[in-house]
This record gives sequence, structure tokens and C-alpha cells, in this order.
Amino acid sequence: MSILLTGGAGYIGSHTCVELLNAGYDVVVVDNYVNSQPEALRRVETITGKKVTAYEADVCDKAAMDAIFAKEKIEAVIHFAGLKAVGESVAEPLMYYRNNLDSTLTLVETMVKYGCKRIVFSSSATVYGAPDFSPVPETARLGCSNPYGWTKYMIEQILRDWAAAQKDVSVVLLRYFNPVGAHPSGLIGENPNGRPNNLMPNVLNAASGKVKELKVFGGDYDTPDGTCVRDYIHVVDLAKGHVCALKYAAEHTGSEAINLGTGVGYSVLDIINSFERSTGVKVPYVITERRPGDVPSYYANPEKAAKLLNWHTEKTLDDMCRDSWAFKSKNPNGYEA
Ligand code: NAD
Ligand code: UFG
Repeated sequence: MSILLTGGAGYIGSHTCVELLNAGYDVVVVDNYVNSQPEALRRVETITGKKVTAYEADVCDKAAMDAIFAKEKIEAVIHFAGLKAVGESVAEPLMYYRNNLDSTLTLVETMVKYGCKRIVFSSSATVYGAPDFSPVPETARLGCSNPYGWTKYMIEQILRDWAAAQKDVSVVLLRYFNPVGAHPSGLIGENPNGRPNNLMPNVLNAASGKVKELKVFGGDYDTPDGTCVRDYIHVVDLAKGHVCALKYAAEHTGSEAINLGTGVGYSVLDIINSFERSTGVKVPYVITERRPGDVPSYYANPEKAAKLLNWHTEKTLDDMCRDSWAFKSKNPNGYEA
């Protein structure tokens, strides 16, 4: 029996492949490589010394998904596949709704056909919109501010409704906070296409001299140092959370939404300081205008993950910065030679 990882060649999927293989699971990946490269999976094999079965296909393609389920014995699915750029989702909302919703419906219909009843879904703290308070519990009010976020919100609802209708189904909705870092080997990491929007890839570009300086969006927020505060989580801790979620899904039915975060908020300046301290490399930066839509501060309440999944984060902010830099230094052009 195998675990199917949709979008398993991507940033979080590839790290989760490593943790699953290390935990003794067999892994099957389906990815159309719209935002990843097959090389990531070859490196997963190098790290673990184990084989990954990979299919190049669109999860929206019913016939392709049917063929994968017919060939492989899939005991559970982790559904990473999706488009994830907030700004692009505002410009191209239909593309986001089509890809993220259609892939989920096709996947779940195929699971139903083949009697596969367990799914772990990559949701996001974005479903909390602008949270009223932190730490944010799973019971907080939901509401999104962009089409990407709404796709996560809608998919959560689709999966919850499925679990409500079919009593032997198990759904775990993992709400990630801000994943950063890379595998300590420096072999796999985040490899964004085009100009990155997120903080850590921009820190790396400034540190490596690829851009002149990091733009810190806003220095006048009502936070301890005036810059925005987020809950950054090491991607290896996050990946391990998926192994725990799979175990939970094997023992429980119904649906649960669970935060994956550290429970600690760090500011943009904290990240810069940690990066410089842990790598010895300077991050040139300038404080600029606020970025429209940014929430000043929020971080997770991770108690439910501790209680239900017996999962805790282990890595520090310095680990996140050091490992991100190791991947960037070893792979200045990402997975391209
Ligand atoms: P990623 O882009 O690196 O990985 C997503 C993978 O899905 C890519 O390999 C891409 O090629 C694939 N994909 C997309 N649409 C597909 C389709 N229709 N068929 C087959 N493959 C498809 O992103 P990631 O950072 O690894 O994120 C994984 C999941 O976690 C996504 O659903 C994302 O929305 C969610 N998430 C990410 C973050 C984050 O900050 N990275 C935060 C919260 C939630
Ligand atoms: N930031 C900068 N400069 C940059 C990039 C970001 O100062 O070049 C700041 C932002 O203003 C923000 C913080 O760094 O205060 C983090 O920004 P990111 O873009 O890295 O992350 P966000 O918290 O805005 O959003 C991310 C993902 C969303 C996801 C959310 C989950 O992009 O998709 O985390 O909490 F939903």
C-alpha cells in the first residue's frame, strides 16, 4: 500500500516525501510540474536511498487519475497540488478556482471510486483572513481576502461535507502558517518560479546579491519593532506534521482542521537578525511602504496539533535561516544545473 502525494514534487511535498520514506511508507507522486521540477524527486531518492514512483499528470485529468488509482494500491492521499500565489490569484481568479477546485473534485471522486477514504489536505492560515487575535485557534472566525484563500476555504468545506456524508471517511485539514527553511542536506528547498513574493526567498536574493536590497514592507505597524509579525515554521517540522496526520487519519473518521505553526511570532527584522547571526551573511535592506493587504501580526495556537497529532516543532528560527541559505548557496539557480 502507498501514500499518494498530489503536488509531491513541490516545496512542501518533496520534504514530506523524505519524511514519509524515512518513516517506512511507500510513496507515489502525481505532479504536472507547473511549479516544480522532477529533479526534486531524484534528490529525495538521493537523501533517502529509496524509490519514489512518480507520474506526470494533471490532477484535474480524470482519466489519468483513474489510471494511477487502478495501477497503484493507494491507502491514503496527501493533497498538496494547487496554485498558491496570492497576487496571481487576484489577477487570474478563474484559473485558480478551476485548478484548485477541479483537481480536488476529480481527486475525491477517484478516491470514492477506488474505496480510498483518507485524505490530508494542505490548507492555510489564509482562511483566517485578518484574525481578531493571536494565538489563532482553529475555532477562529474564517474569511478570506483573495481568490487563493477562497479556494482553500471552499476545499475545506467540500472535504468536510464528504466526511459528513460518508461516515467511514477521514479528512485532516492542515492549516499551515508560514513555511520556510529547507532540508538540512541542502539538496531540496524552495525554488520559486519568477520573481518571488514571499519573505525568505527575497531575503536569500538580497543576501546573495541577486537583488540590491530586501524591501521591508512597512516599519510603522503596531508591533514591537514596527514590522509585521508571522509564525514561520521549518518545512521539515511541517513535513513531519503530515506523517502524524496520516497516523491520526488511519485511527479516526470524520474531519478535523488543525493548525501547523510554532505558536511564536517573529517580525521581519527578527528574520533579518537571525539570518545574519546564523549564516554570517549580511542582508542589505530598506524599509519601504506597507504592502497592501498585509495583516500586522498573527501566529498560531498549535495546541490542537499537540493534542490530536502528538506533534511539536523542533527547529529554531536560526535553523530555518541556516538551512534556507544552505540550499540557496548550493543551488543558486534552483534545480537547474
Ligand atoms: P508548490 O507550488 O511548490 O507545490 C505545489 C505542487 O503542485 C507543484 O509541484 C505543482 O507543480 C503542483 N500542481 C499544481 N497544480 C497541479 C495540478 N492541477 N496537477 C498536478 N500538479 C499540480 O507549493 P508548496 O509551497 O509546496 O505548497 C503545497 C500546498 O500547500 C499548496 O496547496 C499550497 O497552497 C499550500 N500552502 C502553501 C503555503 C506556503 O507558503 N508554501 C502556505 C499554506 C498553504
Ligand atoms: N515581506 C517583506 N518583504 C518582502 C516579502 C515579504 O517585508 O519582500 C513581509 C510581508 O510584508 C509580511 C511578511 O514579510 O509581513 C511575510 O510575508 P510573506 O509574503 O512571506 O507571507 P504572508 O504572511 O504574506 O503570506 C504567506 C503566504 C500565503 C499564506 C500565508 C499563511 O504567501 O499564501 O502565508 O499564513 F496564506
